[in-house]
Amino acid sequence: MQRIILAIESSCDETAAAILIDGQVVSNIIANQTIHQQFGGVVPELASRAHQQNIVPVVNQALEEAHVSKDQLHAIAFTQGPGLLGALLVGTSFAKAMAFGLNIPLIAVNHMKGHIFSNFIESPAPSFPFLSLVVSGGHTQLVLVKSPSQLEVLGETRDDAVGEAFDKIAKIMGFDYPGGPLIDQWAQKGDPTRFAFPATNMPALDFSFSGIKTAFLYLVQKESKKNPQFLAQHKADLCASIQKTLVAMLLTKLKLAVQQTGVKQIALAGGVAANSELRHQLVQLGEEYQWDIFLPHKAYCTDNAAMIARAADFQFLAQDFASFDVQPMPRMPLN
Ligand code: KG4
Ligand code: ZN
Repeated sequence: MQRIILAIESSCDETAAAILIDGQVVSNIIANQTIHQQFGGVVPELASRAHQQNIVPVVNQALEEAHVSKDQLHAIAFTQGPGLLGALLVGTSFAKAMAFGLNIPLIAVNHMKGHIFSNFIESPAPSFPFLSLVVSGGHTQLVLVKSPSQLEVLGETRDDAVGEAFDKIAKIMGFDYPGGPLIDQWAQKGDPTRFAFPATNMPALDFSFSGIKTAFLYLVQKESKKNPQFLAQHKADLCASIQKTLVAMLLTKLKLAVQQTGVKQIALAGGVAANSELRHQLVQLGEEYQWDIFLPHKAYCTDNAAMIARAADFQFLAQDFASFDVQPMPRMPLN
């Protein structure tokens, strides 16, 4: 039987919808919210309001581009959590109403599973079990993915997520939110050995990124006292050096996770998976240690609905449907 799924993502500041037919993405629409830039971070109330304005046109465009009509849909998937409550509510309520009206099943998807299963949008996809390094603005986790429904968190950050560290450091540099992609761009012109930052090492497979952000701030404050032009004169080298340290912190723990589990298929996921240095270093490690590396296309790393649809497809096949009284979960565990 053919399966056509509409997926909706509204966990943070992107309103997105995608159509998946038999596991293949046929449309993927994203409305980015630029309103938050002037505030240096996502303002929850503004995000909810923008989702309300965007959701109908975004869903309609996803259907149109896929040449699919509403009555052809077999299920509607939505991001249940984790994320901002007000933002999640918009997607959840819309999906519920639409699925109820069409009398088709509802699929509640965990946003982090969406990121992990973004590796199945294009081929080749990993086979089970695989290790996923999930790096986003809200999460930094090493996950052992045993099956579509059995995921074990092996380690995670004890404080800031790595994307948050990128964004906070970018803010110190005077970049607009989200600054991660700008650090990536500036780093390409800089010398990664120019400045040294102390990488924080946590026990086992856990991470910590708040110390390095503070070390960066102190260096900038100290040097700017001596030379007020310090930041402006060393942007590229600062970006390259901090990025190198953040990437090394991630990959040190990944190596340890491979040693501990013996699993050598590695799938990168989340917004920071779009980082060119992380992708490059991971590919090199893969060659050195003979790991199979899976890198989602950059468009599928940052928040999108195609990844929610892909995760939903596994749930559809397992008949894992939600009831109509399902609620958003701002703090949703992976399992
Ligand atoms: O997955 P995502 O779109 O949203 C969350 O679920 O959090 O991740 C957004 C994060 C932001 O912190 C952003 O700065 C970071 O991903 N990011 C990057 C790059 N592209 C996005 N960080 C470093 N380099 C990039 N190229
Ligand atoms: Zn995300």
